[in-house]
Amino acid sequence: MKTIIEPFKIKSVEPIKFTTRKEREKILKEAGYNPFMIHAEDVLIDLLTDSGTSAMSAKQWSGIMNGDESYAGSRSFFRFEKTVKKITGHKFIIPTHQGRASEKILFSIIGGKGKYIPNNTHFDTTRANIEFTGAEAVDFLNEIGKHPEQRADFKGNMDVDALEAFIKKTGKENIPLIMITITNNSGGGQPVSMQNIKDVRAVCDKYKIPLFLDACRFAENAYFIKTREKGYQDKSILEIVQEIFSYADGATMSAKKDALVNIGGFLSVNDENLATKCRNLLIVTEGFPTYGGLAGRDLEAIAQGLEEILDENYLHYRIRSTEYLGEKMINAGIPIIEPPGGHAIYIDAKRFLPHIPPYEYPGQSIVCEIYLEGGVRAVEIGSVMFGKYDKETGKLIPPPMELVRLAIPRRVYTQSHIDYVAEVLIETYNNRKNLKGCKIVYEAPMLRHFTAQFEPIK
Ligand code: F0G
Repeated sequence: MKTIIEPFKIKSVEPIKFTTRKEREKILKEAGYNPFMIHAEDVLIDLLTDSGTSAMSAKQWSGIMNGDESYAGSRSFFRFEKTVKKITGHKFIIPTHQGRASEKILFSIIGGKGKYIPNNTHFDTTRANIEFTGAEAVDFLNEIGKHPEQRADFKGNMDVDALEAFIKKTGKENIPLIMITITNNSGGGQPVSMQNIKDVRAVCDKYKIPLFLDACRFAENAYFIKTREKGYQDKSILEIVQEIFSYADGATMSAKKDALVNIGGFLSVNDENLATKCRNLLIVTEGFPTYGGLAGRDLEAIAQGLEEILDENYLHYRIRSTEYLGEKMINAGIPIIEPPGGHAIYIDAKRFLPHIPPYEYPGQSIVCEIYLEGGVRAVEIGSVMFGKYDKETGKLIPPPMELVRLAIPRRVYTQSHIDYVAEVLIETYNNRKNLKGCKIVYEAPMLRHFTAQFEPIK
C-alpha cells in the first residue's frame, strides 16, 4: 500500500502566522480564555469547523468569474438546479444562503406547537429552528452511538424501534416529518447505513410521514457506505448518493460542507404544494427563487463543488486523513470517539482529564491548552456549550458527554499540518496531570459558548 496523497496540487497559498507561546498566553488571556474570541490571524491551524472553510478548486474559482448575476432566471441557477437534481432526484430545488436558512423556511411552514420532529440527532441550528416554532425536536440515536469507546460501522443510525414506539404514542398526525442527519455531526461525525435509511423509510411509509435528510455531509456518508456496507463496494459514489436521496421526500443542505464552498445551501422537496409555500417564504426572507440569498457566482461554485465531491479519490483521501489523525491519537492513548468520524475527531474530555469535574469545564481546559501549546484552535462541545443550570439550586446540569471537536476543513491542510496537530495533542495529553479547570466569569443568557469569558482555576 502506498501513501494516500492529497489528490490535488497547490496553485494558490495563504501564509499562516507563527506566534510564540508567550504571545499566545497574552492572546488567550485577552480572549477571556475563549478561542471563539481569538482573531483568526493569531491561529496557526484552525480546526474550529469544517463549515465554509473549504479550499475551492481552480474550476470553482473560474465558475466565480463565470457567474451570471441576473436577478431572475440566471444561467448559474439552472446549472446549480441541474446538478442538485442529478444528485437528489428531488423535483423542486430552492437555493438558500446556508443550511439554517433552509431549516428556518421548512420548519416555519411545517412546525408549530404540538408538533414533533424526530431525528437521529438534531444539529443545534436544526433543533433551534424547530423549537423556535414551538415544535419539539426529539433524538432517536441508536444505543451504540452513545458510547464513545465502542466501535461500530454505523454509529449514526436511528433507533428504528424507539422511533416507531414514539410515533404510536404521539400520533402520526403530530409528526409532520422525520429527519436523518448524514453524517451525524453532533454524534461524532458517524455515518448512517443504507439499511437504516431504508428501515426508517419503511416506517415513514407505514405511517405516511415524509422523510427528510439533513444532507450536509452526504458524500462522506456515501463513502462510508461504499467501504463498510455489504453490496455497495462496486457501486459508484454517485449511484450510492442517488440511492440515499431516493428514499427521502426532501432535504436541507448546507453547501458549506460537502459542496466545497464558503457559503450556500439549498432545500429540496418533492411535494409541489410544500415547494410553493417554501418559495413564497423564500422571497420574503432570502430572495427570488432563482438566487435565494446567494450571488450567481456562488451558485456556479456550488454546482462545481457538488461534481467534485463525488470523486472517489477525493473521498478516499478525505476520510483517510481524518482517520489518520484519529489513529495517531489512539496510538498515543488519547481517548476519542471511536471509530474516527468523517469530518472531525472528537476528544472525550472526561477520560482525558478525569481530575477535572464537568463544572470546571474539562473540554475548555483542553481547547485552551492546545492553543497555548501549538496555536491549534478547536471547539468545546460539552458543559460550556450545552450545560444548563438547575433553577432551584443554581447548580450546573452537564450534558451526557464532555467533548472537544477537531473539525478538518476540506482540502486546506496537508499531512504535515496534521502531523503537527497530532504532536500538539500528544504533548498536551502527556502534560494532562498539570492541566487545571476553569470558571466562567461572564456569560450571555443564550448560546453562551460564543462569548463567555473564563478564568483558569489556580
Ligand atoms: N446541519 C448540520 C448537521 C450541520 O453540521 C450544520 C452546520 C447545519 C445543519 C447548519 O448549516 O451552518 O450552513 O447554517 N454545522 C457547522 C459546524 C456550523 O461547525 O458543524 P449552516
